[in-house]
Amino acid sequence: MTGARRHTLDIDSVTHRYGAVTAVAGVSLAVRAGEIVALLGPSGCGKTTLLRVVAGFVRQRGGSVRIDDQPIDHLPANLRNVGIVFQSYALFPHLTVARNIAYGLEARGRARADVRQTVDRFLEVVRLTDLRDRLPRQLSGGQQQRVAVARALAVEPTVLLLDEPFSALDKGLRLDMQIEIKRLQRQLGLTAILVTHDQDEAMSVADRIAVMNHGRVEQFDTPINVYDHPATLFVSGFIGTTNLLRGRALESSHGTTLVELAAGARVTVRTDRVFDAGAPVTLSARPEQLSLHGEPAAERWRVRRRLAVPLGPNTMHDLETHDGSTLKLVEPRLGRPVETTAEAWCGLRPDACPGLFKEEP
Ligand SMILES: Nc1ncnc2c1ncn2[C@@H]1O[C@H](COP(=O)(O)OP(=O)(O)O)[C@@H](O)[C@H]1O
Ligand SMILES: [Mg+2]
Repeated sequence: MTGARRHTLDIDSVTHRYGAVTAVAGVSLAVRAGEIVALLGPSGCGKTTLLRVVAGFVRQRGGSVRIDDQPIDHLPANLRNVGIVFQSYALFPHLTVARNIAYGLEARGRARADVRQTVDRFLEVVRLTDLRDRLPRQLSGGQQQRVAVARALAVEPTVLLLDEPFSALDKGLRLDMQIEIKRLQRQLGLTAILVTHDQDEAMSVADRIAVMNHGRVEQFDTPINVYDHPATLFVSGFIGTTNLLRGRALESSHGTTLVELAAGARVTVRTDRVFDAGAPVTLSARPEQLSLHGEPAAERWRVRRRLAVPLGPNTMHDLETHDGSTLKLVEPRLGRPVETTAEAWCGLRPDACPGLFKEEP
């Protein structure tokens, strides 16, 4: 089976409450056939609840879920044909690797020869053929999780749901598993949702990332767009490192907004958004979007250098503005010695498109 069946998953205005707690607040996501979508967000933002709704373990209060355009809301979990892998591997401890993978097939009453063939195929897919007769306790964490993935895939689910499946693994193994999932996606044409609170995992594995906060999706876009063009202040701070500068919009015209920064400069920011004159705004600039200079000029504000450290090819500066905010700035070192003079002037790099938001941090 290579890319034999590909399925779409549509989550449409799904809402769920536990008592007074709204865990999922009107989430819509259209997952394309053969796509991996990461649900990324802080603990408690509703990721697991959303997956449980799709899997059928939780009956949502509102909205609907469709696979291949067919509503599945009326189906119990065991008839949805959705594969799920949790953080804890939940393998049957007294069954061998092969028997663990066979379990779901046998429960569906598949013929022995068919079970045998499918188990062999998925042992190969997750590269565990040599370990087929081991018990779970004789495997490493990463190997156990590969068995869990094979077990979920063996029944040929339409959609694979992964709920922080690698978070118990150490860094090296986690990377191996991330590559493994990418490979399986390509090989099998998997449609999958990967829940994670690890932005690097989301960036490296997913085709698109849905960034969740307080039960809502704040942005659903490619990893690069989420990083380069965060839709909200929350997204700009949650993905990557950023500096927040408070200010006031002076005027918006022709795709730029002039901002009076509390740090003490007027800067021109490229943005499609339009702001009312006088509106409080927050500028979100990544360390690589700022530039540092030895002398004052228009659109630069004065900073005090607290620390400058070489980081491989770059220098990272730790700066303080006159109104007491700290800034991180990264610039290529280009073989120069690291400048350490206390006084400097900071500006936006001319090519930078920092985020500008109406919200305040
Ligand atoms: N079974 C439950 N009963 C009551 N509240 C719950 C239950 N499960 C989750 N919650 C609450 O719903 C919110 C979302 O939880 P969850 O979906 O587990 O988030 P995440 O997976 O993003 O950490 C949290 O406030 C959590 O405390
Ligand atoms: Mg969770």
